[in-house]
Amino acid sequence: MIIGVPKEIKNREFRVSMTPSGVAELVSREHKVLVQSDAGVGSGFPNEAYAAAGATIINNAADVFAQADLIIKVKEPLTSEYNFIKEGQIIFTYFHFASSEELTQAMIARKAICIAYETIQKADNSLPILTPMSEVAGRMAIQIAAHYLEKGNGGSGKLIGGVPGVKPARIVILGGGVVGTQAAKMAAGLGAEVILMDINLNRLRYLTDILPANVTCLYPTKALIEEYLPYTDVLVGAVLIPGGKAPVLASKAMIETMPDGSVVIDVAVDQGGCIETCKPTSHEHPIFLVNNVIHYCVPNIPGAVPATSTNALTNASLPYLIQLADKGWKEACKQSQEIQKGLSISEGKVIDVMLAKTFQLSLHDITESLN
Ligand SMILES: NC(=O)c1ccc[n+]([C@@H]2O[C@H](COP(=O)([O-])OP(=O)(O)OC[C@H]3O[C@@H](n4cnc5c(N)ncnc54)[C@H](O)[C@@H]3O)[C@@H](O)[C@H]2O)c1
Repeated sequence: MIIGVPKEIKNREFRVSMTPSGVAELVSREHKVLVQSDAGVGSGFPNEAYAAAGATIINNAADVFAQADLIIKVKEPLTSEYNFIKEGQIIFTYFHFASSEELTQAMIARKAICIAYETIQKADNSLPILTPMSEVAGRMAIQIAAHYLEKGNGGSGKLIGGVPGVKPARIVILGGGVVGTQAAKMAAGLGAEVILMDINLNRLRYLTDILPANVTCLYPTKALIEEYLPYTDVLVGAVLIPGGKAPVLASKAMIETMPDGSVVIDVAVDQGGCIETCKPTSHEHPIFLVNNVIHYCVPNIPGAVPATSTNALTNASLPYLIQLADKGWKEACKQSQEIQKGLSISEGKVIDVMLAKTFQLSLHDITESLN
């Protein structure tokens, strides 16, 4: 199979979808890999490293898309890439379709085979390709919060951990999955007072056992969130309904009760966000204010730490890529329930139940597509 690795073009997205060692693995299995010139530079991988691993370096994205059977990316295709996509071409990347009807309609129209990293799911319900980026984003969320709490950056001037004799900051985290847990660990390590809320009681039991004593795990009712927000310095949004739009847990009215200079980080913005006042921002212009509350809503947070993120991402995606390349998408989907769950749109037909529900599109049976 011919596999294409275009350069990412989202704002300040420095990750790349494959490392040179991933290329070597595919080439050893007799696949051809085309890497767009400088695609890996932001992650510390020059063209020479890809060429040494057996890749062919291609000057522009149009040629990579034109020649490849399968395109592996990091972020969803952007408008300028839509027309490069060919009928029947496999696009393997993070799509986060629920946050964009435009992208969904474009992929339907292009009749591509869209396999979404974020909905590939194991039998234990874990999301193996979303997990490493959620680990990065959860940890980053607290680093980012500390930065924006500083007075010079517009914040209230509170130190997350406080000092002996002075109270630490209070951090409320909505969602106790991978992002929420990693954020809680980082915040607790810095000495914050952490409140972690999740609707899954088994998850709350587990987190109560493993997290340190300065993390309190609570079930999120509207009244409880309302009670906490006027005394919250940092609010982190981290809920997920796989493949669906995030539920809104904090309304505009609730956010308006937060103290001046407090910080809201909606990590779930890539699935539409769980905080009403959030809208997607970029690494170039990451924040905006609502009622003197700083909002940070970058949908590709891990793109800021590509040296870590690219390696973490490709460790997770390569085993699935190998199956797709070796067997073709139909056989890979037939043999692997995990990959089948990632198949969102196939040759213009919506296969993913949550996606069809989100935009009220007709749902097609996967067995028709796999015949
Ligand atoms: N912005 C970024 O750069 C970035 C990076 C990675 C992940 N994400 C996003 O972060 C979000 C969280 O990802 P994750 O890997 O932690 O997901 P996850 O599935 O591990 O965790 C989600 C948690 O949300 C909980 N939840 C669902 N509905 C809830 C509700 N109504 N109230 C409270 N909790 C609820 C679930 O029980 C689960 O524990 C996703 O939208 C993901 O795409 C964003």
